[in-house]
Amino acid sequence: MTLQQAELEESDVAHDEEIPEAIRAIRTRRSGHNFDPEAELDDETLEALVRDAALAPSSYNLQPWEFVAVQDDDRLEEVVELAYGQEHVRAAGTAILVVGHTEPETADRVFDQWVQAGRFDAETGEQVKEQTVAGYQSEQAGRDYAIRNASLAAQNLLLSAHARGLAATPMSGFDFEGMAEFLDLPEDKIPVMLIAVGPSGGEEPERLPRRDVEEILHREQY
Ligand SMILES: Cc1cc2nc3c(=O)[nH]c(=O)nc-3n(C[C@H](O)[C@H](O)[C@H](O)COP(=O)(O)O)c2cc1C
Repeated sequence: MTLQQAELEESDVAHDEEIPEAIRAIRTRRSGHNFDPEAELDDETLEALVRDAALAPSSYNLQPWEFVAVQDDDRLEEVVELAYGQEHVRAAGTAILVVGHTEPETADRVFDQWVQAGRFDAETGEQVKEQTVAGYQSEQAGRDYAIRNASLAAQNLLLSAHARGLAATPMSGFDFEGMAEFLDLPEDKIPVMLIAVGPSGGEEPERLPRRDVEEILHREQY
């Protein structure tokens, strides 16, 4: 039995042919560290990954995220250094920084779309926009929005990569300030997650145990 089959059995996926593909992907996704260093991610796939990431939910559909892909060998070396020498980034061949907005810069456009689509009348659209923009007023709130929203986009990207047979690892083990400077992020954009992604080099080590539902599910109150 391969490791992946063992994992499938463990999570009852293999026994249920009817299981939806999305759930299969959730249950079999791994943080891949085994990349094929000879194979590269083509541009079409890179764009598809970002398109899938951008389908993540976001507060009022503000989509407060952007993605910086690094594939140039010399620049990737710098990323490895900024990630404290994590060599799988080099083997992956592509590092994508998921960036979050700490300011509601898309609000005008997005609330126009809500109104254009007839989901809000013009007055309500303006009110909700003002409330939303006001919610970003403190630095802490702006960072919270950035991280909450862009993390969901990062997870979408990971699942999309997995479903396409690629290996991908989310990473926060890097120098945030150094990375922001290296990639020229504007002041109001913050690094949320670095993702090493590329063609898989084969199986991954066994998944570490997950905490039981009994331990993490609280009913009615904590
Ligand atoms: C916020 C966050 C930061 C992480 N940082 C790193 C990292 O810097 N390097 C790394 O190799 N893996 C990193 N990981 C991957 C975790 O080690 C991995 O998700 C965890 O061990 C569970 O394994 P699985 O994703 O294969 O189920 C990170 C994951 C998350 C969610």
